[in-house]
Amino acid sequence: MATEATPAAGEQAAPTTPAAPAATAANAPDPGVSYHAPLTYTLKTGIAGGRMVYIGVGGTIDGQINPTITVYEGELVQMNLINGEGAEHDLFVDQYNVRSSKVIGKNASSTFSFLATKPGEFAYFCTIPGHRQAGMEGLVRVVAGSRAAAESDAADIVRDPGDVPGPIGPRQPEVVKVELDTIELQGKLDNGATYEYWTFNGKVPGPLIRVRVGDTVEVKLKNPEGSVMMHSVDFHAATGPGGGAHATQTEPGAENTVTFKAMKPGVFVYHCATPSVAHHITNGMYGMIVVEPEGGLPQVDREFYVMQGELYTVESFGTRGAMEMDYDKLISERPEYFLFNGAVEALTKRHPLYANAGETVRIFFGVGGPNFTSSFHVIGEIFDNVYTFGSVTSPPITNVQTITVPPGGSTVVDFKLDRAGTFVLVDHALSRAERGLAGYLIVEGPENDAIMHTGTADQGPKN
Ligand code: CU
Ligand code: CU
Repeated sequence: MATEATPAAGEQAAPTTPAAPAATAANAPDPGVSYHAPLTYTLKTGIAGGRMVYIGVGGTIDGQINPTITVYEGELVQMNLINGEGAEHDLFVDQYNVRSSKVIGKNASSTFSFLATKPGEFAYFCTIPGHRQAGMEGLVRVVAGSRAAAESDAADIVRDPGDVPGPIGPRQPEVVKVELDTIELQGKLDNGATYEYWTFNGKVPGPLIRVRVGDTVEVKLKNPEGSVMMHSVDFHAATGPGGGAHATQTEPGAENTVTFKAMKPGVFVYHCATPSVAHHITNGMYGMIVVEPEGGLPQVDREFYVMQGELYTVESFGTRGAMEMDYDKLISERPEYFLFNGAVEALTKRHPLYANAGETVRIFFGVGGPNFTSSFHVIGEIFDNVYTFGSVTSPPITNVQTITVPPGGSTVVDFKLDRAGTFVLVDHALSRAERGLAGYLIVEGPENDAIMHTGTADQGPKN
């Protein structure tokens, strides 16, 4: 198991953190996805870009043109075909030799099922002469092995947003030792989907490291035997060649150490800087280091750690199975996934942020990227204090709705929770919420109706 980054000397003072309310069935929203249910896929015929096509209806294929249908070996698959425009069509799955009946006339439909016994990729298409050539074809991908096995093997790579070391407290500068292990592993990206992540210490983002200005930070980078790639680390908090990347280019089975002086306070990104750097970053190799100013940051009740990144997969968003990195999409900046803390639903169903009404909270927020600027916003809240660009030596700006955070940059937002409810973390470029980018801040306590209530002002608050 990887070792977390640990400041070597001095127990850090714990923040005043009341116990977090427990997750309950009532406040954990229903995932709405059950992959043990019968697998039903609905395709509707239509025209797109001047071609005849099948269009996915509902579920993970909704709205996709000629969607790839990914299932696991041994699963029962039901296919529904709906006639969307009135010409005559059918649906045939090659090599399985199963087909729908012809659907003639708009809204006519047909259903068939088959057992996915053979792994591999099989074309589906319309057998009406000329229709396949006109665009009516797609793929059924049958992944070898069971879905349960594929999923149980996939690690949870999500960094819990509550995984934040406490404030430094009053102490003199010292040497802080940090160990970063570059772990490559198959991780759970989404329900039924996995990805080969590259990480610092097995989670995305890497550990939040916390030091004070004037500390000497000694970073040991270990690349385990069995890794495929070389890795390194560039600290934006460091001054010197490559931010430490020159000293830490590390082959599998080797380790290197770099030591730097934390000369400037702030909240800084670190990331792998081994070419192709964008590839190492997208795969999960980013994290942050907080360099506290003399005297620390203002005290709050709870602190959280959230980072945003993108994933560029060959398969379109929502596909099941093992996803593969697409280098062409990466260098042309066409991501399939936008993620908080490394995975779809990482901060909603899996590791939401919990707090109580009346508390003040802080979010250390950063963008690993590699490419997209975030317009960070919490729906239903206003940031009381924002340390823009992670600058903790400038006075915070106050009462902010949305804050811009560039790749390789950060922000710190502090706010008081005046009312209970579920508040949603987003990038306000909201198309990205449809590609995985959302988190919940679940606040327990009184729903203070004086602050907001349904209905008119004269109906008055109920409490
Ligand atoms: Cu790397
Ligand atoms: Cu950088």
